Amino acid sequence: MNFHVMTLFPEMIENAMNVSITGRAIKAGHIRVNAVNIRDYANNKHSRVDDYPYGGGAGMVMQAEPVYQCYLDIREKHFSEDGQEKPRVIYLSPQGRVFSQEMAQEYAKEEDLVFLCGHYEGIDERVLEEIVTDYVSIGDYVLTGGELPALVMMDTISRLVPGVLNNDVSAQTESFSDNLLEYPQYTRPEEWNGKKVPPVLLSGNHKLLAEWYRKQSVIRTALYRPDLLEKAELSEEERKLVQSIESGD
Ligand code: ADE
Repeated sequence: MNFHVMTLFPEMIENAMNVSITGRAIKAGHIRVNAVNIRDYANNKHSRVDDYPYGGGAGMVMQAEPVYQCYLDIREKHFSEDGQEKPRVIYLSPQGRVFSQEMAQEYAKEEDLVFLCGHYEGIDERVLEEIVTDYVSIGDYVLTGGELPALVMMDTISRLVPGVLNNDVSAQTESFSDNLLEYPQYTRPEEWNGKKVPPVLLSGNHKLLAEWYRKQSVIRTALYRPDLLEKAELSEEERKLVQSIESGD
């Protein structure tokens, strides 16, 4: 999986991606991060990439041309030889579709993704119309730029790329798979601060364990994210459990 990031702060992307699990995945060749500085495509001696908005108003707007030249360069270097193939270009914006685990699963099927990170008050609309294929938000709040949202997306997508996590099961059995939250986890010691590990976890009985995990997931979801349960597939017994939690029993 190749991530190309058009940004004014390539070091922010590189520094964050080169550590921990994503850093290991880069070293192992499972993912590649190509952070490209939009400023390198500014065509003036002060390397300016922004200007005042037409019509007035607060803040500055990123100009179309440096973004477009940056995009064409990425396309020429990394996509089909004649530069004709159009890559998927994701523009990070609070106006986009809200990112989800389901969207991450779709993006993880791609071989290349291009992220466009805006700054200031945004980017000239004309270049967005020309190159952007997907508008994505990471939530209903406003950040100073698109780098953190791009990092959130790349981190989420990376862990779905085969080989990035040690065991493929952990990507499947965690929060949001089946629209349920993950069950609680415990490790040694068996007793900590007077609290014991639930005895079933020491039983070694796989059937009982699987039942316990599932039940804990249902309970957690009913308590903390009942909105998710609308899309979850629950047994008759699980529905009753949810109802009893919802009625406060
Ligand atoms: N840029 C600024 N805020 C953002 C958000 N919430 N999601 C994606 N991009 C953004």
